[in-house]
Amino acid sequence: CFILSLSLFIWLGNRFISAASDPDGPLFHKGWYHLFYQYNPDSAVWGNITWGHAVSTDLIHWLYLPFAMIPDRWYDMNGVWTGSATLLPDGRIMMLYTGSTNESIQVQNLAYPANLSDPLLIDWVKYPDNPVIVPPNGTETDEFRDPTTAWMGPDGTWRITIGSRYNKSVGLSLVYQTSNFTTYDLLEGVLHAVPGTGMWECVDFYPVAINGSTGLDSSAMDRVPNTYLRLVWMTQKGTTTPSGFMTLQLINGHRIIQKRMWALGLQVDYGRYYASKTFYDQSKQRRVLWGWINETDTETDNLAKGWASVQTIPREVLFDNKTGANILQWPVEEIESLRLRSTDFTEIVVGPGSVVPLSIGQATQLDIFAEFEIEMVSETKHEKYGCRGGAVDRSNLGPFGLLVIADQTLSELTPIFFRPVNTTEGTVETYFCADETRSSEASDVYKQVYGSTVPVLTDEKFQMRLLVDHSIVESFAQGGRRVITSRVYPTKAIYGDARLFLFNNATGVKVKATLKIWDLNSAFIHPFPFDQN
Ligand code: FRU
Repeated sequence: CFILSLSLFIWLGNRFISAASDPDGPLFHKGWYHLFYQYNPDSAVWGNITWGHAVSTDLIHWLYLPFAMIPDRWYDMNGVWTGSATLLPDGRIMMLYTGSTNESIQVQNLAYPANLSDPLLIDWVKYPDNPVIVPPNGTETDEFRDPTTAWMGPDGTWRITIGSRYNKSVGLSLVYQTSNFTTYDLLEGVLHAVPGTGMWECVDFYPVAINGSTGLDSSAMDRVPNTYLRLVWMTQKGTTTPSGFMTLQLINGHRIIQKRMWALGLQVDYGRYYASKTFYDQSKQRRVLWGWINETDTETDNLAKGWASVQTIPREVLFDNKTGANILQWPVEEIESLRLRSTDFTEIVVGPGSVVPLSIGQATQLDIFAEFEIEMVSETKHEKYGCRGGAVDRSNLGPFGLLVIADQTLSELTPIFFRPVNTTEGTVETYFCADETRSSEASDVYKQVYGSTVPVLTDEKFQMRLLVDHSIVESFAQGGRRVITSRVYPTKAIYGDARLFLFNNATGVKVKATLKIWDLNSAFIHPFPFDQN
């Protein structure tokens, strides 16, 4: 573990590594942020799933702690899988997680800290009468997992939701009621179901305030009138199900009595991102989102380097009042404590088909704010929709943006860009994209073009913020309305050879770019002092 973490320290400047997968049970307790995560102590590939544990006082600098839970009971012998924490009003912490039994049946288990007065919550106790929930009739026993944080119902008892699949054909989230976290009743009706989808993993369900600048505790779901909040429902399995969308939902007593869907089909993050989970940070009244960035190189590569996977920089989540139909994700403000020297560029003109270097020196750890305005120079046709053709696919109004993690000769580069497109209805629709296809000369790496449309309102410029970290780019468009995480493997654009460029590959517009760019310091990620095996 020591060596694994040290190698991370060299490869990635300012983020936390999980060497496995999903973030689990994030919470804030007595001055410390806690992150648990799916971890394989024996190898850099998935298996032997254990709960790793790390703490931080600022969500940026981390200290690894001993494993919180290992697979050592019949009900989790095949893995201590994903779960969530609920902080009770009396200060107790309830951790619900999925155990895969020695027969690979997925059951829900309860654990709690042995000593609540320990700010580091080192010791965890598994409830002696686990499991507390077993798969209900009609669901597959290996498709029932990842309990959410509980929320309080109007009757003063708690609710949780768990992803599953009914009849091998309908993905859904089931709702359970509990007053004590040890006994549960399955409620009538489901939170949501979509025929033809797979098992829903890592469902997350939480309120966001309309016209609010702070986050809401999950218990606000039933306390605050519906006119003041939207409930965000997120699931994973992005290929078959929308990864995240909003629903207005009332749950009364034992029944779900009203449901209205909003903004269906939004994804939490359009890039390399999975198994996300939020928590309410009571110390700063905000909702913070974690997500897992999986590798896109091969298993052999991961075994050779001895670790795999990292977590995103935590993001604050707010409702997008301007569009009324999106959530905003934004890097937590603490990331700004890593900012070093900054450089400003004002109204740099980038003509059609050109690339402009930005002379900031080594461009490996950056926080970039960029704004673009476009000015028509000629009207050309060949409009193409979407991100799919990447940054080389020219059209009248785009693409334009930044080339990050690029070497001087542009043999490796990752374009992050906008592509506005004239629609047949006479409007302009904008795509926000990340093109990894030329990000690395390594051949055994999965290189994708990611993206989505993004609402750009009439009073807005095209805006992006990028967090660049050697081999990871987290890209936020229009204040966080759309986010794309990229995992790339440069071989030349590394350390002192990594550069930053502006580009405009539109045929019909001139682009004016204004930027503020900070170098970012490295975060301190302190390894656990000895091998825990
Ligand atoms: C998502 C997931 C969860 C499960 C965990 C096991 O990545 O498959 O559904 O609980 O990983 O590691």
